Amino acid sequence: MLSARFKPWHVALFLGKYAWLTARRRPVLVHFEVTLRCNAGCSFCDYWKTDASARASELKSFADAARFFNPMLVTFTGGEPLLRRDLESIVAEVDRAIALKYVTLITHGGMLTADRAESLWNAGVHQFNISLDYLDERHDLARGIPGLGAKIMAAIPAMRARGIDNIRFNTVIKNDNLDQIVPIVLRARELGVGVNFSVYTDAKNGNRDYLLSGEPERELADVVRQLLDIKRRRRGVITNSDYYLEQIPRYVGGEMREPCRSGIRTIHIDPTGRHSTAGVTVTRAARWERRGGSGAVGPARGTAGAQTL
Ligand SMILES: C[S@@+](CC[C@H](N)C(=O)[O-])C[C@H]1O[C@@H](n2cnc3c(N)ncnc32)[C@H](O)[C@@H]1O
Ligand code: SF4
Repeated sequence: MLSARFKPWHVALFLGKYAWLTARRRPVLVHFEVTLRCNAGCSFCDYWKTDASARASELKSFADAARFFNPMLVTFTGGEPLLRRDLESIVAEVDRAIALKYVTLITHGGMLTADRAESLWNAGVHQFNISLDYLDERHDLARGIPGLGAKIMAAIPAMRARGIDNIRFNTVIKNDNLDQIVPIVLRARELGVGVNFSVYTDAKNGNRDYLLSGEPERELADVVRQLLDIKRRRRGVITNSDYYLEQIPRYVGGEMREPCRSGIRTIHIDPTGRHSTAGVTVTRAARWERRGGSGAVGPARGTAGAQTL
């Protein structure tokens, strides 16, 4: 389920760039956390507690870092990235800074109108990932945004009507939404969008309430079996690899640290330009830090589960 903006010959170009980045031990994916501020109120993530005054220290442009790392994959995230009124110019500058890239925006969707989505699409976003963990009222409650689920469901057809053909749900599998996983896939199929699953972690703020260990493990294994079965029958809706899905029960059972090792080729750039990475092989990150980031000084920000070079 790739955007029609990409043609089959782009695959060869991306493979070439991937090989080039790998040979130079550079990050493949750079996450730009354009703000840590957020207007939600999730109990599993503390970004919304960021003081409004943090706005003053947010970079106006991430183009320097984009040019420096020259990654293949770029994600704009946060906090809530749509709180940045200048997000279009941030995206457009990064778009101009990197010749070959695939750009994703992750949002809770509470402020995602068709107009805003279209201007971000025109600025250079190739894929919209909208967080959705429940189809019922639990989603609004979990995010602390009344009417959020309904807003997302209304925004998607409006975006598609504007020609935005690459939308995915970002769904975190937790102990209290196992009943929602297959229905979310079915809803995604109806709406003509994809679903990307990840697994709940307490590494963000220490909240263990949603961890998938203990009793839900059996139910989880059954849900994963159903997802693999759906994937076999209908390719393109669930965007995770079979391998990732197959590893989820092993990860939850404590047999491995994470269901995929993509983190070792990933860099996070925070709103002030400091970096953190879960990987230790990305030598370019150390050079970025020695350079002082994008105007930032001091040590790189360490995140839970991430190792700072
Ligand atoms: C930190 S949010 C930033 C973007 C935006 N505010 C949002 O929620 O979509 C990025 C993604 O991380 C997910 N997330 C937040 N807390 C998490 C946790 N404790 N475990 C796993 N995923 C989490 C969110 O659901 C979202 O899809
Ligand atoms: S998960 Fe997203 S919406 Fe929730 S507090 Fe964190 S940044 Fe905000």
